[in-house]
Formats: sequence, structure tokens, C-alpha cells
Amino acid sequence: MTILIKNIKELLQVREPNIAIVKGEDMKHLPTLKNAYLLIENDTIVQFGPMDDCIGIEANKIIDANGKTVLPAWCDSHSHLVYTGDRTQEFVDRINGLSYEEIANRGGGILNSAEKLQQTNEDDLFEQSLKRLELVANQGTGAIEIKSGYGLTIEAELKMLRVIKRLKKHSQVKIIPTLLAAHAVPKAYKNDKQGFLDLVINELIPKVKKEELSNYIDVFCENGYFDLDDTEQILKAGKAHDMIPKIHVNQFNAFGGVALAVKYNALSVDHLEELNPDDMDALKGSNTMPVALPSCSYFLSIPYTPARKLIDAGLPLALATDYNPGSTPSGNMNFVISTACIKMKMTPEEAINAATINGAYAMGISNLYGSITKGKKANLIITNEIPSYAYMPYAFGDNHIDSVIINGTIIK
Ligand code: NIG
Ligand code: FE
Repeated sequence: MTILIKNIKELLQVREPNIAIVKGEDMKHLPTLKNAYLLIENDTIVQFGPMDDCIGIEANKIIDANGKTVLPAWCDSHSHLVYTGDRTQEFVDRINGLSYEEIANRGGGILNSAEKLQQTNEDDLFEQSLKRLELVANQGTGAIEIKSGYGLTIEAELKMLRVIKRLKKHSQVKIIPTLLAAHAVPKAYKNDKQGFLDLVINELIPKVKKEELSNYIDVFCENGYFDLDDTEQILKAGKAHDMIPKIHVNQFNAFGGVALAVKYNALSVDHLEELNPDDMDALKGSNTMPVALPSCSYFLSIPYTPARKLIDAGLPLALATDYNPGSTPSGNMNFVISTACIKMKMTPEEAINAATINGAYAMGISNLYGSITKGKKANLIITNEIPSYAYMPYAFGDNHIDSVIINGTIIK
């Protein structure tokens, strides 16, 4: 099966195969080809170039993209898309003055979602999650990381990861599963956090590896959840099982979690709404991708990750949704891009780099995703007729996507 996209007004993010990450000043540039064509064979981008060279190319299907922009589908490197139930009551409680922390201390928050998930059977959880996955795919997401972490028991965590495995089979979207082993201390271990950590380390992690459910390990490193010592125990256990760390850190408090993550060669450090000079120093010279989650800042009214500080220091940055029922009930990457431009002062070029190639890097898949490169997967967004790509973040809240191609299949 071949698809030829013709008369593309702007083809964005055209990169050589050796580019796996874009940092600092380079994030300001989005290599673009104007008046271009692109050829897809099965699931792969096989050719592209200026329209003048599009002579004699035949295909099973031809798409005329006159006046339209084509770019890589979004790479959302941080989500909790597998969950059940909503937390609208907590949303209303926060409007009425309670903080996220106060709600969690009352047994709401993550524990609330965990209780619901434990009571939901695997098939229901799968159906609910598939709907969300289809929704975000329609919004242009072609690759997504999905975490466990609302199980908080061995069985419920395995259930979440098995659901993620089923989603992988049912969807064209590239899915990276992450074991978020230590997301909150479950009620049953309220006075025995170490007991819970031991359970995760000695039972859960080995089971997850044995069933080949995930190669990535996450932990919520935060006051009231897991401190530096707890986090290190988890990272060490992960390392012993060849798991790659991608951790929640510095959402509300900065106390050295970033340096610890870097020490364990984390692929990404996510949130970073709080950031101190030591964190910046740790990131410089590391292979760790900082990941900002602006929809979470928006929804919880907490600070935005200081993107300018990071990028202006020569560091890379990725953008992701954090899609989850508590802090970010939205998986819309288009909103993330707009919010990053509007609230974090990222340029459209920086935001698109952060949401494509750097997002792919933060999932360990930038060899096959995140740019328009021969040999990479055909994961593409075709926009409506818009004046330029900067119109996408500018005209926020509207849908600017005409079609989405994922794994060489036109899904929208
Ligand atoms: O990334 N911070 C920890 N975990 C999620 C939110 C969890 C929840 O409130 O359900 C996050 O924001
Ligand atoms: Fe998260």
C-alpha cells in the first residue's frame, strides 16, 4: 500500500536520521520544506522532496494537501491514560478553596482513583482506555507513553499493564508502557511505607519483567509521597532489572530528585514546575530529557516549568500531556503546544520540536518517530488550510487538524 501526499504547503520537521534530540538554540529551528510531496509505503516514510521532483510517482492513494501543513504526529511521552472514573468532585472542591495536597491528605487524589481501578475489571478498563486512546489519536497523537500507578496492589498494577499491552495490539498508535510502581502509599501501608516499597521491589518489579510488561520505571518523588531514599530504592531495583527510569519529580517541591534521577541515567525527568540551580547543573551534560506538562500547571494553577531557563541554558525540553483524572483530565497535545507558547514563552518552533522529536527521545523511540525522515514510521498530521504552522498554537482551542495518519493508516 502506498500513499502519496502532494502539494504540501509546508512540510515540517525534516531531519537527517542521525538527529535524535534537539537542544537549546537548535530548538528555535524547525527545518521546513515548502511546496513538497511525501510518499508512504506501508508503515514507513520512503521519500519526500520538492513538488518539482514529484514526477512519475504513482501510489494507491493520492492526497492533495494544497494549502495544508504536514508534520510528524505528536509524541506524548507522559500519560496516565489507563484509568477509571472521573474526579470532578475534587475539581469542584478545589474551586471552592481546597488544595490538591489537602484533597490527597483526605484520602482523595491518587488513592481515590486507585480504589475505583481496583474495583474495575480488566475488560471494562480496556474499553474505557481504548476510547481515550482513540480520542487522542484523532487529536494527532501517534506515539504515547502510558503509565501504571493507579493499581497500588500487585494484581491491580498488573491489570493496568495488561490493559496497556492489549491497547498496543488494538491500536496503530505506538505505545510505551511504564511501571509507575510507587505513585502513592496505599491505605493498607499507611504506617508501613517500607513494607510497600519492599512489595514493589521484591514482587511487583520481578513479575512485571517476567511477563514482559514494561522496561521503564517511574516513581513519584515528592513530599508526602516518596522521598529521596525511597526513590533511590526504586531506581536501584529498576536498574537491577535493566529498567530505564522516567520519573515524576519537582512537581511541588525541589529537594534533589533531579540529580538522583540523572545519577541513575534517567531517560526523562518530568514535571519540574519547581527547579533550582542544582537541578539545572545536574541536567547539564546528562542524557536526561526534562519534560514539561503545561496542561497540569494550567489545571492545578501551579507554576509552569521554566522552559526559557532550561532552553536558554542550552538544554533540551519535551512537552507532554500528563493525561490523568486528577491533575490533567486532557490528553490534547494541541492544547499543550498552545499553552507552552502562551504561558511558557516557547516559540512555535520550540514547542513543535518539544512535542515531536524530543517527545520521541523521552520515550526512547526517536530512531523511528518524531521527525520527517526517510525510514521513519509514517505518523503524520495534515492540518486544515491555515496561514502558517504558527497558527496552530496561536488560534488556541480550535481544531486545526484535517487528517491523521498513524503507522501508514489514515485514521482520521
Ligand atoms: O503526574 N503527580 C503525580 N501523578 C499525576 C497525578 C495523579 C493524580 O492526581 O491522579 C501527575 O500529575
Ligand atoms: Fe504524571
